[in-house]
Amino acid sequence: MFTVLDREPPTGEPVDPRPLPDGPLDVRLEGVRMRYAPAGPPVLDGIDLHLPAGRRIALVGASGVGKSTVVDLLLRLRDPQEGRVLVGGVDLRDIATDDLYRAVTGMTQDAHVFDATLQQNLLIARAEASEAELVDVLGRVGLADWVACLPDGLATGVGANGERMSGGQRQRLLLARALLADPRVLILDEPTAHLDPVTEAAVMRTILDVTRGRTVLLISHRTSGFDELDAVVELAGTADVTASGMPARRSAA
Ligand SMILES: Nc1ncnc2c1ncn2[C@@H]1O[C@H](COP(=O)(O)OP(=O)(O)O)[C@@H](O)[C@H]1O
Ligand SMILES: [Mg+2]
Repeated sequence: MFTVLDREPPTGEPVDPRPLPDGPLDVRLEGVRMRYAPAGPPVLDGIDLHLPAGRRIALVGASGVGKSTVVDLLLRLRDPQEGRVLVGGVDLRDIATDDLYRAVTGMTQDAHVFDATLQQNLLIARAEASEAELVDVLGRVGLADWVACLPDGLATGVGANGERMSGGQRQRLLLARALLADPRVLILDEPTAHLDPVTEAAVMRTILDVTRGRTVLLISHRTSGFDELDAVVELAGTADVTASGMPARRSAA
């Protein structure tokens, strides 16, 4: 899982870890303040956010506003200087890193397709997955027909950075990997970045379809197109005195 998310070593193992509750998990940020440099400006300046279990939220905002920093906190690549991040009501600092990695994962903004076969790229998420499971997940993300036409099928090499795939296929493969990991909290950070508008819309359609019923934090620099999610939360820049990360707009849900 380190490889899937290009994770750095964890911020620290709890001395006395607390177990996560069973079932779907919620996510909560409480008064989170986070700055990268001790003397620098806060990137997140008192953020409150609640993602209820089984719900899907879009976290949107301009580039540089701190969306991926929220992801770093949820994956515990960093700890906030102030406030708390909780999953299933448990402070991340009290969760054993293995438990956290199983529960919270997904597609980071820098998610990487390796110069290996389709199968190898998927098995990173779950080494013991059967071929039937791989075919199933590829079907869910809309890649089954393409893979079925490949002479080498799942054994097809994708090239460095997936250069033998289209941009849309690459993002779909990364989505398949995230689904195969089957986390209780799925994070998707700009999963349609760098795609042309038509492909972006098609991949987003797939994402909205395959994530129903899960706890999902979907991050995007776009602010529209998320009507079927439970809420759209706009992260405002810290230059904005009203910045709180609280929902700017909510869908009718
Ligand atoms: N590792 C880092 N060190 C210092 N500053 C960083 C680092 N990562 C991000 N930042 C800064 O924090 C701010 C928020 O970044 P980020 O969370 O990546 O924004 P977003 O994902 O919304 O585009 C930006 O100003 C960015 O330059
Ligand atoms: Mg980002």
